[in-house]
Amino acid sequence: MSQMQNIQWYPGHMTKTRRQIEGCLKLIDAVAEIVDARLPLSSRNPDLPKMTNSKPRLILLNKCDIADKKATDMWVDYFKKQGIIALPIDAKNSTGMNSFVPAVRELLKEKLKKLNEKGMGNRPLRVMVCGIPNVGKSSFINKLVGNTKAKVEDRPGVTRGNQWFTVKGKIELLDTPGVLWPKFDDQQVAQKLAFTGAIKDNVLDVESLCCKLIEFLVQDYSENIISRYKLEDSIDDLQPYEILELIAKKRGMLISKGEVDYERAAIMFIDEFRAGKLGKITLELPERC
Ligand code: G4P
Repeated sequence: MSQMQNIQWYPGHMTKTRRQIEGCLKLIDAVAEIVDARLPLSSRNPDLPKMTNSKPRLILLNKCDIADKKATDMWVDYFKKQGIIALPIDAKNSTGMNSFVPAVRELLKEKLKKLNEKGMGNRPLRVMVCGIPNVGKSSFINKLVGNTKAKVEDRPGVTRGNQWFTVKGKIELLDTPGVLWPKFDDQQVAQKLAFTGAIKDNVLDVESLCCKLIEFLVQDYSENIISRYKLEDSIDDLQPYEILELIAKKRGMLISKGEVDYERAAIMFIDEFRAGKLGKITLELPERC
């Protein structure tokens, strides 16, 4: 994992994005922040709440199809206690998406009341969709906009290239201007992001990453590993590389003279984890954060 220490926070890019987001705030009514349900804190940009604190906000816990349901419920509660609505969704298969429009209308009910009083009850509610790369912003917008979409023209005040989309239920979505980065320079955060593929693999040593992932999973999900790879005994007392060796042998991943092909096994293990083949797994819980 030593290479990960070289991945740094990008203050220059963030300054530009911050300015772009701040420029859009006057055009929107609310912010929908998309996070990865498997790591709801690590997959956030830590500065976003500060940047958008003048606006009502809701959180979309995306990819809940591959997250642990119990953990997702705990995260919904965690955010609720902070007064934030969090909706579990799966933008890949459109699960939970129907709750988005009612949640926005609930979040903005005071605003709607005021608009109605001014005879402007028909004006669409405008929501900026934010999130770090790879959390599913495009999937979410595409699924929500669907075939009924009509892209709204560029509006004055919005940088060229920022896109507005109309959604049923009198809502308009604005794609995030700029790029929001996660907090790469926190090693624990960087590691979890690497496990899910949010950090490109070519900057990482795949065997070390896999051993770290195994070490992490053994804490709460050793049964998932045992059952996926049909291992005979408990793995709790083994070192991560010993577990990887068992997995490689089970899958017949050997090089000459019966030696284990660790690299191939590591790539396979990480791919299977990311595809949800090891089961529904969440990498951080509110009580441990
Ligand atoms: P972004 O705009 O925030 O960068 O994310 P994007 O929608 O491009 O999604 C990133 C990856 O996450 C895509 O996979 C997408 O299919 C997947 N994804 C998005 N939402 C969900 C979800 O709710 N559940 C699951 N399981 N996956 C989701 P990809 O492998 O990069 O692309 P593709 O193979 O799907 O084309």
